[in-house]
Amino acid sequence: MTLQLGDLAPNFEAETTHGSIDFYDWKKDSWAVFFSHPKDFTPVCTTELGYTAVLAEEFKTRNVKAIAVSVDSVEDHKSWIGDIEETQSTTVNFPIIGDPDKKVASLYGMIHPNANDTLTVRSVFIVDTNNKVRLTLTYPASTGRNFNEILRVIDSMQLTDSNKVATPVNWQQGEDVIISPGLSNEEAAEIFPDGWNEVRPYLRVTKDPSST
Ligand code: BEZ
Repeated sequence: MTLQLGDLAPNFEAETTHGSIDFYDWKKDSWAVFFSHPKDFTPVCTTELGYTAVLAEEFKTRNVKAIAVSVDSVEDHKSWIGDIEETQSTTVNFPIIGDPDKKVASLYGMIHPNANDTLTVRSVFIVDTNNKVRLTLTYPASTGRNFNEILRVIDSMQLTDSNKVATPVNWQQGEDVIISPGLSNEEAAEIFPDGWNEVRPYLRVTKDPSST
């Protein structure tokens, strides 16, 4: 199954390091960063899960819950967590799904047989408060992901969901944004009374409305 942007993220029940969960019940009205890693007790994965734990407060302030999965067992995850915490100087405070029968990994298309027919690749699904898939990422096993980028995309999506703006290349929270191209100048004048810089008629730059 290939999940695409805008699709409903499928619900599932699973065993995790925090007990049995129903994904929707666990997630409730938050956003979720649901990500797979290839294997427990591997170096890149150790740094990724450690950094996700380090970002706990950043996720919390954005109403985001993190949850990881691999085809290892919950028992393996629990013994690996000690290594993550010790080597990455953090406390792993999010659940890790044990998926030895690949039920969840298959549901989300996290196994790419031409890369590896048994292990999950490095997938990320960002799921919004309505359980819609809003972002997908797929990285190879040899490349650790940039979890600061995941936060940046969440900032952009949360801002652009509630304001008629889009965010430019390499945008960071608080920086100038772009007025939605669908908005006429007359409409924009009502929403952005402080005005904008019209670089081109289709490229109108204004202050981040959430920082004013
Ligand atoms: C790692 O996490 O270091 C890793 C996992 C699977 C294959 C290659 C690297």
